[in-house]
Amino acid sequence: MDAKMYSERCDRTADRLREIGADGLLCFPSRNLQYLTGFHEEPGERHLFLVLPAEGDPALLVPALYETQIREGTTVPEVRTWEDGEDPVAAVRTLLADRNLREGHLLVDDRMWARFTQDLRAAAPAATWGLASEALVDLRIRKDGAELAALREAARVADAVIDDLRETADEHVGKSERALASWIAGRLETHGGSGVSFETVVGSGPNGAKPHHRSGDREIRAGDPVVLDFGTRVDGYPSDQTRTLVLAGEPPEGYPTVHEVVREAQAAAVDAIEPGIEAGAVDRVAREVIEEAGYGDAFVHRTGHGVGLDVHEEPYLVAGNDRSLEPGMVCSVEPGIYLPGRFGCRIEDLIVVTEDGAERLNRTDRGWR
Ligand code: CO
Repeated sequence: MDAKMYSERCDRTADRLREIGADGLLCFPSRNLQYLTGFHEEPGERHLFLVLPAEGDPALLVPALYETQIREGTTVPEVRTWEDGEDPVAAVRTLLADRNLREGHLLVDDRMWARFTQDLRAAAPAATWGLASEALVDLRIRKDGAELAALREAARVADAVIDDLRETADEHVGKSERALASWIAGRLETHGGSGVSFETVVGSGPNGAKPHHRSGDREIRAGDPVVLDFGTRVDGYPSDQTRTLVLAGEPPEGYPTVHEVVREAQAAAVDAIEPGIEAGAVDRVAREVIEEAGYGDAFVHRTGHGVGLDVHEEPYLVAGNDRSLEPGMVCSVEPGIYLPGRFGCRIEDLIVVTEDGAERLNRTDRGWR
């Protein structure tokens, strides 16, 4: 654990809170908590909070069963515990009082469960409330060297699985989508990844026309375009990449053209990325290529999203986002065309914005064969 890194992140967050006129930040188990402390856990029903004041030391309030793990795994100076059977809200109230945070302007994790925000309201009835992203987006959006190294390695693992898939393509015809998804999960682990960063998408034939179809019982047939969108994690950081492959046989009529349009749109968007371009302008570049080819109505989502500890985070490449891209930002570029009842096609790579353009983190062939 890099103790210095986490305490610097907490210090910078406190600086940022003061800049924006907030008095404290309250996180529950989330990627924000992981970013600030190194501790990651799925949210659960027990109260677990990081309290980070604009002035004064941060503290963690955790269920007693986490105490050893948290003391060993984080550098937060104060760790308080509560035991099953005690009233956690009383402990929250005391901690907020000790940090002078029962009033003032407090930011809560954007994804915090309502039951916890309600308890916080009760514990700090005079406070006003905002979202953690108001302070943290600007800190998390540019990746440092260690974060980029992890993202690169996670991308390499995903690429290796695409290469495996091409080499073994024939073997997967006749499998269910679900079986192929579990094969992919196994290969991600074999190549050094940890788990899947989101539920794997194996959208074969008409299922590929539903952009967030996950995987089902449909058997993959020769000639099916198959949308394969998956990733894993390395040191906490995810990959997220998509290829649309025809594993065997000849594709349906019109598919090669659609694939070529998507590929051109993706290339044009990646080429357009450089420091200073607005996120929304990158979306427009991809969309124009697809509109000119006559498939504008079939491109039913934004062009991309930032990637960090969260698989979807700022900067979103979406119409109306006037945020300027800067070196060190990482995002997906993933235009698609979806023809309901027939097939879908999406090509996605992660890129990092460099000093003079963009570098792709995913490098495997983008063709459909
Ligand atoms: Co994506």
